[in-house]
Amino acid sequence: MTNPKKIAFFDAKPYDKRSFDEVNKDYGFDINYFDAHLDENTVELSQGFDGVCAFVNDTLNKNVIDHLNEHKIGVIGLRCAGYNNVDFKAAYGKIHVLRVPAYSPYAVAEHAAALILALNRKTHRAYYRTRDANFSINGLMGFDLHGKTAGIVGTGKIGKCLISILKGFGMRVLAYDKFPDKDYAEKEGINYVSFEELASKSDIISLHCPLNEETEWLINKESINRMKDGVILINTGRGKLIDTQALIDGLKSGKIGSAGLDVYEEENQYFFEDRSAEVISDDVLARLLMFPNVLVTSHQGFFTKEAVKNIAETTLGNFKEYFEGGYLKNEICYKCDQHCRKKDGKRCF
Ligand code: NAI
Repeated sequence: MTNPKKIAFFDAKPYDKRSFDEVNKDYGFDINYFDAHLDENTVELSQGFDGVCAFVNDTLNKNVIDHLNEHKIGVIGLRCAGYNNVDFKAAYGKIHVLRVPAYSPYAVAEHAAALILALNRKTHRAYYRTRDANFSINGLMGFDLHGKTAGIVGTGKIGKCLISILKGFGMRVLAYDKFPDKDYAEKEGINYVSFEELASKSDIISLHCPLNEETEWLINKESINRMKDGVILINTGRGKLIDTQALIDGLKSGKIGSAGLDVYEEENQYFFEDRSAEVISDDVLARLLMFPNVLVTSHQGFFTKEAVKNIAETTLGNFKEYFEGGYLKNEICYKCDQHCRKKDGKRCF
């Protein structure tokens, strides 16, 4: 009988252990959970393992990848959809990188909708008021979503889910995508427009495109200036889609009515951790948290029972495909991006 394959699991939280241990009953991997993020300081922990499991705030730059390669790690299983934290060029030809392309687009879209509803009707503030027996509704006025315009940037799995939710509220939808899905637009009665037009005509803007060189700081001083006064801006994509300083300036001037942020540019030091007994040294984050019209959640868009179970199942299934030598259907690599599907059933390298 061969020994079970050993997986070094980084940035492990109690809920990860529960869901992966449950699903692993069907796979039998030897999973070692490390609390630490994967980075240059912790990569040594991967010595003696066959694969590495990483998450959104782990660092997979060239240094870390080269180290993993020295440790003869052949596979990195990302237990997430986004992969902006991986240097694919460095990994190509050495380490296969697998991901979970979809686990529940509903989870993230519903969270984006929750942020929109809370910010518009100021539910987050009402909660505190009534707990303190303050039953005044001064300052809590919102607007009807019905008849307003939502601008959705990125009409992939999550963007489309959010569009159907917002259409349920009677909203008009404008969409921007580098690769527009024209059949979908026709069927659903939505309009693809330029990013500039979306920015200038939307009452609510929600970001659902991947972070890459083209989309980094898509929301910046210039695009914010173009927006309607009082716009609600929602980001459940990736932090660096927004230039946070420009966002803060927009909030201070009143240009941006409110912002719902499930992700933040410099989130890795804070998000997913309990830092309540410490002083926040990140002045930009501290400033954001002071605004009454900003709702920050800690990258929890994905966090539903269904999504967490699907993540564990797909991640361990990906490892199984790799160790059994099969075709890696969820591989992403330097040459084969999400829009370039391998059709020959062969591995990238
Ligand atoms: P997807 O791959 O289904 O959709 C992404 C869409 O963005 C595609 O339609 C694509 O054509 C479009 N796109 C690509 N480049 C673009 C560009 N330069 N400009 C405009 N559009 C562009 O991805 P999915 O599943 O909808 O996820 C979207 C993003 O949400 C992920 O990349 C990830 O960063 C983030 N995410 C956040 C989570 C959270 O917990 N907050 C959980 C899961 C994903």
